[in-house]
Amino acid sequence: MSYRQARFDEGLIQEMKDTRDEDELIENILPDSMLRKKLDIPNLHEFEVTRHYTRLSQMNFGVDTGIYPLGSCTMKYTPKLGEVIVRTEEATQTHPLQNEAAVQGSLQIMYELQEMLCKIGGVDAVSLQPAAGAHCEFTGLLMARQYHELNGDKRDEVILPDTSHGTNPASASMMGYRVIEIPSKDGRVDLDALENAAGERTAAFMLTNPNTLGIFEDDVLEIARIVHDSGAILYYDGANLNAVMGKTTPGKMNFDIVHFNLHKTFSTPHGGGGPGAGPIGVMSRLMDFLPSPVVAYDGQKYFLDYDIPKSVGKVRSFYGSFAVLLRAYVYIKMLGSDGLEWVAERSVLNSNYLKERLKDHLDMPFKDLRKHEFVLSGAKLKERGLTTKDLAKRLMDYGFHPPTVYFPQIVEEALMIEPTETENKETLDAFADAIISILGEDREKVAGAPYDAAVGRVDEVNAARNPILSWKMLLNEE
Ligand SMILES: Cc1ncc(COP(=O)(O)O)c(C=O)c1O
Repeated sequence: MSYRQARFDEGLIQEMKDTRDEDELIENILPDSMLRKKLDIPNLHEFEVTRHYTRLSQMNFGVDTGIYPLGSCTMKYTPKLGEVIVRTEEATQTHPLQNEAAVQGSLQIMYELQEMLCKIGGVDAVSLQPAAGAHCEFTGLLMARQYHELNGDKRDEVILPDTSHGTNPASASMMGYRVIEIPSKDGRVDLDALENAAGERTAAFMLTNPNTLGIFEDDVLEIARIVHDSGAILYYDGANLNAVMGKTTPGKMNFDIVHFNLHKTFSTPHGGGGPGAGPIGVMSRLMDFLPSPVVAYDGQKYFLDYDIPKSVGKVRSFYGSFAVLLRAYVYIKMLGSDGLEWVAERSVLNSNYLKERLKDHLDMPFKDLRKHEFVLSGAKLKERGLTTKDLAKRLMDYGFHPPTVYFPQIVEEALMIEPTETENKETLDAFADAIISILGEDREKVAGAPYDAAVGRVDEVNAARNPILSWKMLLNEE
């Protein structure tokens, strides 16, 4: 498939000229008292506004356009049934302050979602409140701190492996913990290093399994033993649950606190600052610390239960991101337990298929069988004056969203690929063929990419350091 992204010379809507006739202008229709004095937008017809935003959307790339193989981020195609249901009147026309008797349906959905997540995670209780994975990490560490403090235990360190996602150390240091990073051995937690690091100062060990190299931590039960022997909490970063759900559970791996990224594993594409949901699950000894309220059922009615004795309190407004919760509910109901298991199997199969197709074309550290994602190294590209970033940019010209790059940091020039279960063999082959073809192209061609994307090379460092997030910022009004 040849590819060329739509490219319009589209300005800001504020820059467009008034096109409506005098007698259609809103200021000539409404009384003065109802008009805002300063509203810097032009008077346009509906079709012009529609076209403006449609053109912008065509310059974008999303899971509805093509494969989006961001490692660690699970950007799978998300079924439209969930979108239809979250837009129904029943879902959109309820208010979080409504009387419980009037929202029994919404409460039932939340209650059942809690129950389903308990089963999927192998945990005893779930609160739906946290808004994302990182937020759940923060909440989990709040709970761990409260747990230790009430046991009269002063613990000030959090341990994590060098494969961990950046949000893990960030959450721990936001909580004021000293972060201890331990090295990996052959792509897995080094048990000796963990044994040496864990002790009476350890509040928690944070781990994702499979880890960010896509490798399953086979020694997880031994890891749990070491952590628990030191009196610490074992925290499961659930961003990679897509690889194992239905096969095993973090509960069976002896984790104490588990996070779910609903917006990765259970539909709702994430990113771009949109809402997410990161429910938190716990084993029974930590149930009393959950953020309140949780949704409960007394045999006759569903209600918001604030009676959680040692709760860390509220961590988010109201009860969570309802639309994201509802999409996850629909997704789980739609697939059933067999379907979820199929998702894990297919995501692992797809990942290993792509790995086999690519492993002889780029370096591949750690040769093991992978779970849902794998990491290649573009270090050899440097011999030709190229980088992983150049390869990623050139992929855009072939119509593919680039994989995650430069993470995990323990792999030089990392290229982290997670194809997800939703892609078919033809797409996987086309993606592999594109990478192989790029590796055979002239250096200059690759170094100057992308050519056919809506936007060429951007100054990424400047964009990250000085983000312009609104037209007011652009006009220096904010
Ligand atoms: C392994 C891992 N942990 C944690 C997170 C943080 O999750 P969220 O983006 O929902 O805050 C991510 C996100 O990409 C991740 O990949």
